[in-house]
Amino acid sequence: MSHRAVASSIRAARFITIEGIEGAGKTSCLDYLAKLLQKRAIEAAFTREPGGTSLGESVRALLLDHRFRGMVGDAEALLIFAARAQHLAEVIRPALAVGQWVVCDRFTDATYAYQGGGRALGAARVSLLEHWAQGELRPDRTLYLDVPVSVGLERIASRGIPDRFESERRAFFERARCVYLERCRAEPQRMRRIDASGSREAVHTQIAAALADLFNDGVETG
Ligand code: TMP
Repeated sequence: MSHRAVASSIRAARFITIEGIEGAGKTSCLDYLAKLLQKRAIEAAFTREPGGTSLGESVRALLLDHRFRGMVGDAEALLIFAARAQHLAEVIRPALAVGQWVVCDRFTDATYAYQGGGRALGAARVSLLEHWAQGELRPDRTLYLDVPVSVGLERIASRGIPDRFESERRAFFERARCVYLERCRAEPQRMRRIDASGSREAVHTQIAAALADLFNDGVETG
């Protein structure tokens, strides 16, 4: 990579997050995103939450474990943000600092949706922790893959033993989806709703359109 190309990719580093309730199709979206970035020779770190670091993956195992079905919402939110603080320090901020794009499978919108909405903690608590752990850092673009809860749950029904979140009742996911949709309405520039109930091609077309302006930035600054 030339000096100029490196400089342009430093200017253009983006933080992209992917969101959606269970069964929305995040995995297929991430595969497609990897291809889009590769085609443009954009270096990206793909990571996930909860997880992305050794500490984060251990916290993830606790969060998904049925032994902790009595975990209260506050404990859940604090564990998620503990993992997020480590992830930011170890992976996300260092990658962005050297001009690498970061694509994260879930981030703080999931905490607003699942803990704020699903567990009914409310947005104010999540916001408090968001400011503590992240300071001013927010994703540049978030793709919210939207499917009706019944469609998502049907898609995951054949996946094997459900984890602690997947075992939640339908009303929990309805509350989470409601928060996601509200956040899309409140921040339409950052958070794009993708109708993920249609064909793979239709979903991919929407994903490419939702990122087009970011790619143009990256390509034209060189
Ligand atoms: P995954 O299924 O996308 O790998 O995520 C694991 C679970 O973690 C998923 O059911 C949603 C949940 N989760 C939260 O409840 N809050 C959060 O902030 C994040 C990042 C995930």
